[in-house]
Order: sequence, then structure tokens, then C-alpha cells
Amino acid sequence: MVETSNEWIIKRTGISERRILNEDSPAYIMGIEASRKALENANLTAEDIDLIILATESPDYMTPSSACIIQGALGAKNATAFDLNAACTGFIYALVTAQQFIANGMFKHALIIGCEGLSKVTDWKDRNTCVLFGDGAGAVVIGEVDEGYGILNSFLGSDGTAGMNITLPNLHLTEAEKEKRPNGKYNSIWMDGTEVFKFAVKAMSSATLRVLEDLNMTVEDLSYIFPHQANTRIIDGAIKKLGVTDEKLHYVIQKYGNISSASIPVALDEASREGKLKKGDNMVLVGFGGGLTWGSIVIKWAK
Ligand code: UT7
Repeated sequence: MVETSNEWIIKRTGISERRILNEDSPAYIMGIEASRKALENANLTAEDIDLIILATESPDYMTPSSACIIQGALGAKNATAFDLNAACTGFIYALVTAQQFIANGMFKHALIIGCEGLSKVTDWKDRNTCVLFGDGAGAVVIGEVDEGYGILNSFLGSDGTAGMNITLPNLHLTEAEKEKRPNGKYNSIWMDGTEVFKFAVKAMSSATLRVLEDLNMTVEDLSYIFPHQANTRIIDGAIKKLGVTDEKLHYVIQKYGNISSASIPVALDEASREGKLKKGDNMVLVGFGGGLTWGSIVIKWAK
């Protein structure tokens, strides 16, 4: 479809494969599947869940929210459900939001989902973006844990002044946005890749240090870092700045491409199922994305 090569894509992005939804399949079906697996893993039923937050920048409907669709499909009849959009940082934002409700006692168990059907908002004639994005979903269940475990600290950042570096128009379409999409697919992601790249490396390293410093911790104290996976060169740049080796990472981008808000929960799930995460392990989840947004969380693994 575009002038590119396997070699360029693998070398410049680290992506070898991707998963793409059938044209007539909604993205939320992946979210339902991920939620069922997360509930099973947590030994809970859908009725035990009081809150569902779904992070997405590619919802199938503007209303109903994907969170409500999934609540209905699961039979999670006791749950409050809503979508949250912080683009690729969505999972971090959703997890921190859910944590507040658990901490203040309003809810007991929350299901947090990152779910993206990015193939539907990809312009397959734009080589700057069409080689990057994939479809995917990941989910986690959170609840109260023993003192000293779980989420120890978090940080959320936003910079709306730089927001036009990644855009995906919905109802408001300006001439400027049309010009960025000469192929006429106006509901597609456009980005200034180089600007986002520079922002991402800086944001991920600074957000990681910020949440650790508050706790008097350093990267030496971490067993794992789970970054948003948009490009292996971005991750490599950030961990180099932090002085961390890639043994502390679990890469999934080579198999799934950039799956935005789903990349962190998918990596977390894979690492957990492979038995890599042990009780007491310290880890940082860190993301960046459209908005612009970025954020980080320190977790002491409780299971
Ligand atoms: O999750 C948040 C969303 N953001 C992101 O995922 C992306 C962040 N940015 C990136 O990952 C990288 O900037 C890209 C992968 C988008 C681009 O990589 P780059 O190393 O920054 O390339 P570049 O934009 O500096 O372009 C280098 C060359 C250019 O050719 P010339 O001008 O040097 O002749 C591009 O036209 O590579 C060319 N190019 C391609 N060539 C083959 C750009 N895309 C492609 C392509 N295939 N798909």
C-alpha cells in the first residue's frame, strides 16, 4: 500500500507482527475477552465488580461507552462504568482514577481495561503511521491489598499546548486537520512522529524518576519497568537515560505493534502469566501519548 519495507519497519520501530480486527468486528469484543480472563485470574465473578473504567482513544461508539457495553456483556450489574480518554497514557490514568475510589472506600473491586481498535482509525496510505498501530485489549482487576503493597505512588501529567502533535478528529474538522490527511481519511490518526519521539523519551524517563524520588527509591530498587510500547527505540532511549538494562522489561511491541492504552496491561498480563512477577517486586508502569499526556505508577506486587 505504501513505499516501505519489512527491514525499515523492524529496524526503526521494533515491530514484526500486528493483530488487526476484521472490518466488521468491534474493538469491545477484545475488551470482553480480556475482562473475562482478568476476572478468572482474580477469582472473582462479574457481580463482584463495582467499577469499570475503560481507557480508549478508538471507541466503537461515542455512546454507549465501551465500558457500559462490556458491563452489559459481562453481567456486571453492580458496576458503575465509564470510558476515559488519555490516548496511550489511558491505562495509567484509569488505574490511578480507580485507585482513588478503592482508597476512599466507595468501591471494592475495579476492572480496568485498555482497549483499542486502531486499525479502524489508520490511514493505510500514510506510511508515517500505518506501519505502527495494532488492535488489542488488556484488563486488570484491582482491590484492597495489605499495607505497604499495591500502588505506592503515582504521577499524571498533561500539556495541552503541544496536543496538536497527535490528532484524531471526531466531530470538529478544521481545514488544517484536512490538510494533514491528503488521502481523505479524516477520522485517522496523524502525528508528528519526530516531535512525539523526543517528548516520549524525556517524559518517560522524567516521570519514572519523579515517582521513585518521592519514595526515596531508585531504579536499582525495581524488578521491572512496564513502559507504553510505541517504538523500541523510544523505550531504549528512555531506559538508557535511566541507566536501566532491558532485562527489566517485557517487550510485546514486536508481536502487537503500538496498541496504545492496551500495551501496558497486555505486557503486565504476559509477564504475570509467565511467572516473572513475584510478591514484593517493585515495578514502575509509565506511559505517554496524545493530549499530550504522560504518567507513572510505582507498584509493590501484592500477589
Ligand atoms: O504512542 C504514541 C504515538 N506515537 C508514536 O507511536 C510514534 C513516535 N514516533 C516514532 O515512533 C518515529 O518517529 C517513527 C517510527 C514514526 C518514524 O521514525 P523516525 O526514525 O523518527 O523517522 P523520520 O520521521 O525521521 O524519517 C526518516 C526517514 C524519512 O525519509 P527521508 O526524509 O530521510 O528521506 C521518512 O520519510 O524515513 C522515512 N520514513 C519511512 N521509510 C520507510 C518514514 N516512515 C517510513 C516507512 N517506511 N514506513
